[in-house]
Amino acid sequence: MIDALRTRIAELRARTAPLEPDGAERNALGQQALAHALAFLDGIPDAPSKQPADLVFSRRLDPEFPEQGRDPADVLAYLGECVERPGFATASPRFMAYIPGGGLFHAALGDLLAAVSNKYSGFASAAPGAARLENATSAWLAEVIGYPEGSAGTLTSGGSLATLAAIVAARDARDADGGGSVYATRFAHHCVDKALHIAGRGRAPRRTVATDDGHRMSADALDRALSGDRAAGIRPWLVVASAGTVDSGAVDPLADIADVCRRHGAWLHVDGAYGGLFALCDAGRERLRGIDLADSVVVDPHKTLFLPYGTGAVLVREGRHLLDSFSASADYIRPLGDFDVGPSPADLSPELTRHFRALRLWLPLQIAGVEAFRAAQAEKLALAAYFHARLGELPGFDAGPAPDLSVVAFRYLPETGDADTFNERLLRDVQEEGRVMLSGTRIDGRFTLRCAIVSFRTHIEHIDEVVDALVRAVARLQAS
Ligand SMILES: Cc1ncc(COP(=O)(O)O)c(C=O)c1O
Repeated sequence: MIDALRTRIAELRARTAPLEPDGAERNALGQQALAHALAFLDGIPDAPSKQPADLVFSRRLDPEFPEQGRDPADVLAYLGECVERPGFATASPRFMAYIPGGGLFHAALGDLLAAVSNKYSGFASAAPGAARLENATSAWLAEVIGYPEGSAGTLTSGGSLATLAAIVAARDARDADGGGSVYATRFAHHCVDKALHIAGRGRAPRRTVATDDGHRMSADALDRALSGDRAAGIRPWLVVASAGTVDSGAVDPLADIADVCRRHGAWLHVDGAYGGLFALCDAGRERLRGIDLADSVVVDPHKTLFLPYGTGAVLVREGRHLLDSFSASADYIRPLGDFDVGPSPADLSPELTRHFRALRLWLPLQIAGVEAFRAAQAEKLALAAYFHARLGELPGFDAGPAPDLSVVAFRYLPETGDADTFNERLLRDVQEEGRVMLSGTRIDGRFTLRCAIVSFRTHIEHIDEVVDALVRAVARLQAS
């Protein structure tokens, strides 16, 4: 019996060999993958900002999941043609649609190293060094937004999950029995609705707070809404303010809002997924004044710290609230014991086993240095001001409100015809030309173009290209 098992095990073991390439094979495979990645990066400056999707459907590896491994060169070629090329070129410096995501090369190397060592970063006792880096990077983010000692935070897969963690902490701290009301402007990101729904507060009394001409929450209107609810016996629970709305990058008056929340006993959550990390540079910090007064803040390093997608962070001013909501254990984990590097990430979010995310943030901060990030953010703010000023000089364009951060929301005002239809056609024309990529939204029912300047690769020549592309597109539409 044992001999038969030994024979069977030996035979199975021989068949697992492709899972563990030897040193020479690892080297060859690694070189091939690296060459592929470097060729992709080399192609970025000139590649179109959007490519057709035909190949996604017309070409598949056959069979898609082979019993025997295939030549890595074929696999990489497929990846290049059918995965990396089609769709939006999100890594391009000319991609200024939605919230761009350049994806720092150092961060990609961080992912590689994290995956190779595969440290169990959820638990301080299992991977003290990794957990320390997780806590150190969250602490650094908390310091960037100005949080005091005693705050806590953790890296998540993105802003939506970070928002969910923040809202659960706010619920447990201030609305355990339900009934409290929620306040936000019509520009709050839809991930807030999702989070409220998942947290069991989708039916909480909800107030839409009025905004000013720059699409920012009116602190006076908020004050009136909270006072009115209190007078009617409804307890204000949660105020969601924006540190950079997705539509126009508007930053709500955070210090004034914090004051209103303090007076009425409401939890202030600031959605800084897009804009919060501009606090790293002087001009951004000035615009975000008061963010440090929030009870919780969400920031997305995969937006304004230029990391690859999949990195958000939740930060809570009184860190114990995160632990109260998410700390849990089980008998099979307890023997691991404690390790003095701060809380385990598993106690700060819904996740147990997780990607060692900190490395993709820590490595670029070490290798490129903080100053490069600070300068890149200041550059983005200046580029947005430059774009807004250039639009203001172009005949026919309404440049919209001066940008608070790095999103410019603007329109073309045609002399005749419907402006919404014209702007929708203008956007489509620019996108189809494929040189620069912008996006659109509706603000108070009016179709508006957006230029979101967030990539570390975007510089002044790319903004000039946007202006040129818009001028060309308007001329084409007027001639048609
Ligand atoms: C202002 C704002 N909040 C929240 C989110 C959601 O973040 P994520 O896409 O990382 O889940 C976004 C995403 O664009 C955003 O712009």
